[in-house]
Amino acid sequence: MISSPNILTNSRPRDNNLKRYAKRAGKALWNTPSPYEKQKLPGVGLNMKSSPFNELAAAYDSWFDEEGKLIFATEVSALQSVLASLPEPWLEIGVGSGRFAQALGIGTGLDPSGKLLEIAKKRGIKTYQRRGEERFFEEEAFGAVFLIVTLCFVDSPLDVLREINRILQRKGKLVLGLVLRESPWAQLYLTKKEQGDRFYKHATIHSYQEIVDDLRRAGFATEKFVSTLFQKPGEVKEIETPREYYSSDAGFVVIIARKDVC
Ligand SMILES: C[S@@+](CC[C@H](N)C(=O)[O-])C[C@H]1O[C@@H](n2cnc3c(N)ncnc32)[C@H](O)[C@@H]1O
Repeated sequence: MISSPNILTNSRPRDNNLKRYAKRAGKALWNTPSPYEKQKLPGVGLNMKSSPFNELAAAYDSWFDEEGKLIFATEVSALQSVLASLPEPWLEIGVGSGRFAQALGIGTGLDPSGKLLEIAKKRGIKTYQRRGEERFFEEEAFGAVFLIVTLCFVDSPLDVLREINRILQRKGKLVLGLVLRESPWAQLYLTKKEQGDRFYKHATIHSYQEIVDDLRRAGFATEKFVSTLFQKPGEVKEIETPREYYSSDAGFVVIIARKDVC
């Protein structure tokens, strides 16, 4: 789904044209702090210097070819099962090294980690080094926005969801790929977090109800649930077929939520 979304930040006008440009653009989106590394953003816990994804980009990316191979294929299969219903163009927020974006045909990705984006770029993804909370793309720029194993790492999930709602078209869809707290996989990640794991110490694993409540607050109506990864941690032997309902036994849940327009 390669596309050229309307980005107001990239065409920052000369200062003497600022007011005129702001009027034309509707919103002065370029005044969001950037580049990300140079500033200490208020409320940002995961800055560029301390991001585990920045420092351990190669290790993160190699997981997909090694122990994560079957897990990744199982998750991709669940996400593929919903693609036909999604309007274009597509964006992934928290695109990381672009593994899912490449597998699913998502042309554009955003992420604060420059190191991961370097890898994503090599996979043919058009990338932007930003946080999902930032106002960056034009209103109603996308038909579908993906957030795959990312909501648990952002500083403000509700702000990210609200921003996604803003950049989605009126019939646009949000596609969430999550590990929910009720699942046996979440217990594994929570234990890792307690033990100070380099990645999971930064994660907040949300419950089903917390996600559903945040989606409603951000202006979304849930439309569809897909569950997969019923094999237990450490026992994954095969790629699973996704099931079209929510199950607390699933290690990976896909939620489709539509922009709720009155
Ligand atoms: C577990 S990785 C998932 C990456 C990719 N979606 C995947 O599944 O491979 C979480 C990603 O969230 C990104 N991230 C952290 N804080 C973020 C924020 N505020 N906005 C957008 N992405 C963020 C990280 O840099 C990282 O790439």
